Amino acid sequence: MANAADFQPVDLIIDTDPGADDVVALLMAMASRDELKLRAITTVAGNVRLDKTSRNARLAREWGGRQEVPVYAGAPRPLVRTPIYAENVHGAEGLPGVPVYEPAAPLAAGNAVDYLVETLGSAEPQSITIAMLGPQTNLALALIKAPEIVHGINQVVVMGGAHFNGGNITPVAEFNLFADPHAAQVVLDSGVRLVYVPLDVTHKVLTSEARLAQIAALGNRAGQLVHGILDEYVKADMLHYGLPGGPVHDASVIAWLLRPRLFSGREVHLSIDTREGPTFGQTIADWYGKTGLPSRVLWLQDGDAQGFFDLLSERLARLA
Ligand code: RIB
Ligand code: CA
Repeated sequence: MANAADFQPVDLIIDTDPGADDVVALLMAMASRDELKLRAITTVAGNVRLDKTSRNARLAREWGGRQEVPVYAGAPRPLVRTPIYAENVHGAEGLPGVPVYEPAAPLAAGNAVDYLVETLGSAEPQSITIAMLGPQTNLALALIKAPEIVHGINQVVVMGGAHFNGGNITPVAEFNLFADPHAAQVVLDSGVRLVYVPLDVTHKVLTSEARLAQIAALGNRAGQLVHGILDEYVKADMLHYGLPGGPVHDASVIAWLLRPRLFSGREVHLSIDTREGPTFGQTIADWYGKTGLPSRVLWLQDGDAQGFFDLLSERLARLA
């Protein structure tokens, strides 16, 4: 059994479109200093417009007590398609269930894409992990500008996609992929090591009254904030899918980084549909190897829901 001493700290950048579940993921990551060396947060338009995703990332940073972590704003729109947003799920401010205000600490100077190019371009080979919690536009632009930066990336862990589960923004497409499939294709084509955390697994790791009560019972600000956010955020999915609870999509990326054994999946060949039409943004995971094409993406398909919420609660308890 590996113990904490065996855990290699992860040199981490989080690219995100906060977003209710993004904020939960950010707090979980910021509470895990020993395992996750968070270099920076880079923001992208997605759930809401860039000004609000960037403000919300700064808010999460304040709530996580990590003002030393720079927040760089990135792409205000997708590579090709017309922008879409998800205010209907995350609210007009992109953060439901809690008071939203202008945080004290500002954005870092400079654009997220330039930060990614400079940081990944000068990093040790295969040293930096990217947690990709929104549309993949920033990393795609960085790879287009400087393809050689792929050498500095250890792996990109993507919340996105859907195969067995079906989509959440169309019958077949998941929001992050649908919001910028061309960017996801650029990242896939770069050959970087990819782990996908799709709806196939996030829709199996659901809140419940007891799990939300577990978080509220922490008795600290972080517990109160996450309880307020999730209690509001999960309503849309519970109603839409008739589920007993809602997914905390992005936080499963952080949980996988911290405890990969909570999840299971397999290496698959992945393709992404960028054609206009009913399957735009669909991810096709070749789970049974039918294509005979190289399986180069780890596609997660199952997860230990209680183990996830126990880990989330334990990490939130570390915060103020
Ligand atoms: O489909 C869920 C994903 O889209 C999550 O990352 C959520 O924050 C939204 O960005
Ligand atoms: Ca997100």
